[in-house]
Amino acid sequence: MYKRQVVSAAAGATGSMAGQIAKLRGCKVIGIVGSDEKAQLIVDEFGFDAAINYKTDDITAAVAALAPEGADIYFDNVSFSYDNNKPSLKNITLSIKQGETVALVGSTGSGKTTLVNLLTRFYSPTEGKIAINNEDINSFDLESYRSNFSFVDQNVRLFNDTISGNIAFGQKDKMPMDSIINAANVSNSIEFIEKLDNKFDSDIGEDGVTLSGGQRQRLSIARAIAKDSAILILDEATSALDSATEKLVQSAITKMQKGRTTIIIAHRLSTIQNADRIIVLKEGAIIEQGSHKELIKASGEYAKLNQQQL
Ligand SMILES: Nc1ncnc2c1ncn2[C@@H]1O[C@H](COP(=O)(O)OP(=O)(O)OP(=O)(O)O)[C@@H](O)[C@H]1O
Ligand SMILES: [Mg+2]
Repeated sequence: MYKRQVVSAAAGATGSMAGQIAKLRGCKVIGIVGSDEKAQLIVDEFGFDAAINYKTDDITAAVAALAPEGADIYFDNVSFSYDNNKPSLKNITLSIKQGETVALVGSTGSGKTTLVNLLTRFYSPTEGKIAINNEDINSFDLESYRSNFSFVDQNVRLFNDTISGNIAFGQKDKMPMDSIINAANVSNSIEFIEKLDNKFDSDIGEDGVTLSGGQRQRLSIARAIAKDSAILILDEATSALDSATEKLVQSAITKMQKGRTTIIIAHRLSTIQNADRIIVLKEGAIIEQGSHKELIKASGEYAKLNQQQL
């Protein structure tokens, strides 16, 4: 979290100022913009683990050195209605810990997408509050707040650009090639990229027409990895793929989830059995939560949904 805020502070002010702001916002800083003396001063004065010296104009290197801080998410008695009439979410209290993978399940219209819409600030709660790392999400600048999320869903948008341009998502000049290659590896995209005539420099055509569905999805995962955001939102990311490709995509997702807070919206329950926690929504309320095993044992709504899908 907060990566962007720290960096903009660093770009506009001295390293010491950036350190101060970072500290105020509870960031974990392992690198900072400034001179050697400034870096040492920050370590001493603010008690950071380490500070690395970067030239003030080398913001990208500084961004890479700023460790992505995890994100604890907290929904505090949140209710929401799109039309001030029928509530779409009712009294949601939910805590998602840094690094946890939580799956949202429930029949159509139960409120899964709405919950994510509130978290990503496309709508605001009618009642209650959402906090990340104990700070009200409304207290952050919207653009920098959203930069903490990566989405992988069925509507992958690709650009008429090269493979590396798509992975870097318009930041190609700023993103080191190492990061792009790493993202291609982790996302299992490398095997198809290597077979393309111009490899990373291959053009993928308007909206990636030259790629298959599974390749598109892996490329979008590569993009999410390169972006290195603290929170991942996956919306039924592996549907519409044949089973071999689904395995590749699933393994890419598993690798990507490491250390990040992940929310998966799932329709096919077979894909989320390994989630740390499954939240079952019904008509806007949480009616059950637990691991797959626990919920099967409880013989409630989840067990029923699971039975229907066998
Ligand atoms: N933009 C909107 N305006 C008004 N009502 C909406 C809007 N979006 C969703 N709703 C209503 O809010 C409720 C929750 O919808 P939501 O999209 O969150 O469900 P969902 O669990 O994501 O369903 P699905 O599995 O079909 O994607 C539903 O009753 C839906 O009709
Ligand atoms: Mg939905």
